Amino acid sequence: MSFTVAIDGPAAAGKGTISKAVATHFGFAHLDTGLLYRAVGRRTLEGVDALEAAQALTAEELEQGDLRTAEIAQAASKVAVLPEVRAALVDFQRAFSRRAGGAVLDGRDIGTVICPDAEVKLFVTASAEVRAERRFLELSAKGADVTREQVLADVRERDARDAERSTAPMKPAEDAVQLDTTDLSIEAALAKAVEVINVKLPATR
Ligand code: DC
Repeated sequence: MSFTVAIDGPAAAGKGTISKAVATHFGFAHLDTGLLYRAVGRRTLEGVDALEAAQALTAEELEQGDLRTAEIAQAASKVAVLPEVRAALVDFQRAFSRRAGGAVLDGRDIGTVICPDAEVKLFVTASAEVRAERRFLELSAKGADVTREQVLADVRERDARDAERSTAPMKPAEDAVQLDTTDLSIEAALAKAVEVINVKLPATR
């Protein structure tokens, strides 16, 4: 059985947490597609050309080192503007989405471009302030030297670049279910996601 759950939304909205929990709940495989752009972004910080990095990307690179830094996030958002870089990453994501046993992919363009036929599409949002606060706590817990103001500015800058680019901009698919996590606990957000998926599952099983 192939069953795809597409989860999109802006930076630090809770996509990662919800995706992982959904994957565990249903026994689906999970791909955080932001890691692909982050791995390419990291290579550009090392001086490698973005397209070359995207074409040569390996699954191992996604596991190496800490890709979840503020510097790499910005580099990822910048390489993600380039249509050729995005094109080089499409096949890997589509192949993953069709894995037998179900797959959850989270990113910015999964429901719109990568998997327009996904059985379930969620668009997870939260206010920029709440998202920045969550990311700030995450980064400071890792010992990163950041301020709330810097993280908020960073989140806003990335959101603007990701939403305004001409190729595969971040936006909800027309048939996406919107999930605003500003005032929702993780448990409540997960319960909602599970409910939406359960409605679609029996039809394909
Ligand atoms: O989800 P994230 O914060 O790890 O993503 C890092 C950057 O990668 C994000 O700012 C934009 C880009 N990205 C994208 O353009 N398309 C995706 N499907 C996932 C991420």
